Amino acid sequence: MTHWTEMNLWTIDDIPWHSFDRSRVDPDLVKMVKAASLVENNANIYADYLGNVFHQHPEVQKLTRVWAGEEVRHGETLARWATLADPDFNFEEAVKQFRNNFQVPIDLSKSVRGSLTGELLARCVVETGTSSHYTAMRHTTQEPVLSEICHRLASDELRHYRTFYEASKVFLATDRISLINRIKVVGGRVLELGDEEMAHAYYAANAEEGPFDQKRHGQAYARRVYAIYQPHVTERIVAMLFKIVGLKPHGLLCHFVGRRAQAFMQGRARRYARAGI
Ligand SMILES: [Fe+2]
Ligand SMILES: [Fe+2]
Repeated sequence: MTHWTEMNLWTIDDIPWHSFDRSRVDPDLVKMVKAASLVENNANIYADYLGNVFHQHPEVQKLTRVWAGEEVRHGETLARWATLADPDFNFEEAVKQFRNNFQVPIDLSKSVRGSLTGELLARCVVETGTSSHYTAMRHTTQEPVLSEICHRLASDELRHYRTFYEASKVFLATDRISLINRIKVVGGRVLELGDEEMAHAYYAANAEEGPFDQKRHGQAYARRVYAIYQPHVTERIVAMLFKIVGLKPHGLLCHFVGRRAQAFMQGRARRYARAGI
């Protein structure tokens, strides 16, 4: 578990805020950054949950506290950029609205993934998603400060992925969960990535008009996210997911799934755009 002590490597003051260039801000990216700032800010709730699930493993509890601190800092950093891009953005107010509307669907008393290995694999899926998200955003944005933020965040998320993956190998030695069960945990968590939490975050962060509509706000978020994924980023997501499951990460099957996933996302992005979402 060598990555566990490497955390806390930068602070919000290391970001070159003076280089912010308003003329290069993309309004769709602003909406995504705002939503991401709220979700990152929820990390302490997940850390409470993981702390309970791993109550017999103080080294994991300690890790998850440090990890949550990093995620919350991601949220603060993104919120500060969003406020530069849109001075009307009120992070505290958006957090309040998000938390009023959406409760993180976890039971603090027991594991929802069936095993400690499953918990860590599910974390790996989320870190795969966030690392790729910021990588795709860095390749898309023309704004230099957001590019720098995404660079730092993507590398933090990749380190989180490696940390949880390494930890999962330790627990797998005793849990011995089958390939099928690994696929179930990983597949289940992948499906949850497009879940309520992101739709609610998008709604609260962007002060959308009218009542919350899971389908509409989920699609509005998905359209913007799917549109920025480059093929090589999608292929990397699939390779990382294959590795989490325990399958060969660069074989023909992985390549095939990567291409299908890219076609799916591009198709959805176009369809939602045509529908004016
Ligand atoms: Fe993060
Ligand atoms: Fe992370």
